[in-house]
Amino acid sequence: RCLMWLRVFTVFLPFVVGAGLGLKVTVPSHTVHGVRGQALYLPVNYGFHTPASDIQIIWLFERPHTMPKYLLGSVNESVVPDLEYQHKFTMMPPNASLLINPLQFTDEGNYIVKVNIQGNGTLSSSQKIQVTVDDPVTKPVVQAHPASGAVEYVGNMTLTCQVEGGTRLVYQWLKNGKPVHISSTYSFSPLNNTLWIAPVTKEDIGNYSCLAKNPVSEMESDIIMPTIYYGPYGLQVNSDKGLKVGEVFTVDLGEAVLFNCSADSYPPNTYSWIQKSDNTTYVIKHGPHLEVASEKVAQKTADYMCCAYNNITGRRDETRFTTKIMVLLSICLPFPIAGHEDALDDFGIYEFVAFPDVPSVPRMSSRTAPASDGVSGQDLHCTIYEVIQHIPAQQQDDPE
Ligand SMILES: *[C@@H]1O[C@H](CO)[C@@H](O)[C@H](O)[C@H]1NC(C)=O
Ligand SMILES: *[C@@H]1O[C@H](CO)[C@@H](O)[C@H](O)[C@H]1NC(C)=O
Ligand SMILES: *[C@@H]1O[C@H](CO)[C@@H](O)[C@H](O)[C@H]1NC(C)=O
Ligand SMILES: *[C@@H]1O[C@H](CO)[C@@H](O)[C@H](O)[C@H]1NC(C)=O
Ligand SMILES: *[C@@H]1O[C@H](CO)[C@@H](O)[C@H](O)[C@H]1NC(C)=O
Ligand SMILES: *[C@@H]1O[C@H](CO)[C@@H](O)[C@H](O)[C@H]1NC(C)=O
Ligand SMILES: *[C@@H]1O[C@H](CO)[C@@H](O)[C@H](O)[C@H]1NC(C)=O
Ligand SMILES: *[C@@H]1O[C@H](CO)[C@@H](O)[C@H](O)[C@H]1NC(C)=O
Ligand SMILES: *[C@@H]1O[C@H](CO)[C@@H](O)[C@H](O)[C@H]1NC(C)=O
Repeated sequence: RCLMWLRVFTVFLPFVVGAGLGLKVTVPSHTVHGVRGQALYLPVNYGFHTPASDIQIIWLFERPHTMPKYLLGSVNESVVPDLEYQHKFTMMPPNASLLINPLQFTDEGNYIVKVNIQGNGTLSSSQKIQVTVDDPVTKPVVQAHPASGAVEYVGNMTLTCQVEGGTRLVYQWLKNGKPVHISSTYSFSPLNNTLWIAPVTKEDIGNYSCLAKNPVSEMESDIIMPTIYYGPYGLQVNSDKGLKVGEVFTVDLGEAVLFNCSADSYPPNTYSWIQKSDNTTYVIKHGPHLEVASEKVAQKTADYMCCAYNNITGRRDETRFTTKIMVLLSICLPFPIAGHEDALDDFGIYEFVAFPDVPSVPRMSSRTAPASDGVSGQDLHCTIYEVIQHIPAQQQDDPE
């Protein structure tokens, strides 16, 4: 039978046999992490290349500062347990692996396996396996304080990670799935189970979670998004029709124009629209949209202001803009305005801005420019201008 075992182990462990003629005991891992209450298997392999009559396997258990304890042993296939532990430890020789069932915290320590081969002399070899015992981690719960939120650059935020069950816990914080590192505004408690953000900024907005780990398990909390109040930022005014040049909107005659004021903030801003004319300012509307009939624009060069206010951060921002009426004409030099019959309508100061070549706008051949010899009408110096009509209001210089 021994020869048969010899062949079995030779097949299982060619690398061990190849290492030499002596006895070799190996373990896949010198550290094994077990879960309390469950069975733990400590795998052991051995091989030898010499005739053997007796195969002896002995298991010992040692903890720091205590005497090693005999657990069980075997010769050939007969097991001799320590009667104190006989229900806990199992071995099926010639397989030297040990089964511990159930595993308790007191089972934590070093397990020593010793194999003796009796043949032409005695060969001996042993290995040590360190066993740890842990309770699995339960799902962490993250709480944010203050739950009502914090104002950026003013308030702080504390995230705490609570775990009900589990031993030897190690905590890690994740923001949008990536580890959070210590920085000028991020710090951790000694165990890393609390994350402090002081002060909060808009950049701290994100999905936070806590990862709790131990040697036998890991669990991640649900995502929490701390409330951070910020803004307004990036205030801007847009219009559905008007052409925006700097802070001047040029709008077509006869159409109503819808202005849209927007700024990034949390909570959403409250918007108000202020008109400045004749040395006075007054709020004309609340809300993000303003509709202006362009006849009004034409009557006066109107100055408007959109004001955004965040009632939690207490910060406000405002932007002013001017509306002007625009007439798009195709003219050729020298300058008479084509297409306008009523001279009164044309009263005003004109601003000519060379318009980039627009193929969709048909050019008209000149009636007023003299055609030089050999140059056809199509090749004349016809340029499309954007003409902005400024209708002067009463002189009303505003200090701003
Ligand atoms: C172990 O088995 C071998 C071979 O079968 C035998 O010679 C030896 O006596 C056995 N030892 C014991 C203690 O039973
Ligand atoms: C020992 O027994 C276990 C099952 O109890 C088995 O998985 C393992 O392969 C065996 N080891 C050897 C070397 O036969
Ligand atoms: C036993 O070992 C001795 C020396 O170690 C050796 O001379 C002898 O041949 C061995 N016998 C067998 C049967 O292997
Ligand atoms: C935020 O934290 C800083 C430093 O930790 C502290 O000085 C400050 O008082 C805290 N602010 C609030 C509102 O708790
Ligand atoms: C945060 O989570 C929400 C939903 O859980 C998701 O829609 C959003 O894209 C996440 N944000 C980031 C930055 O991962
Ligand atoms: C806390 O986390 C940092 C890395 O973020 C790590 O270096 C440190 O060892 C951790 N401390 C504990 C007690 O886990
Ligand atoms: C207002 O402008 C913002 C930013 O340009 C845009 O996201 C939003 O859709 C606009 N709203 C309307 C009603 O045009
Ligand atoms: C702040 O403004 C929001 C609208 O953005 C409004 O619903 C809320 O009542 C305001 N809160 C206070 C305290 O004024
Ligand atoms: C504009 O207002 C200032 C002070 O409110 C006043 O002194 C000035 O006369 C006003 N000018 C006009 C043109 O109304």
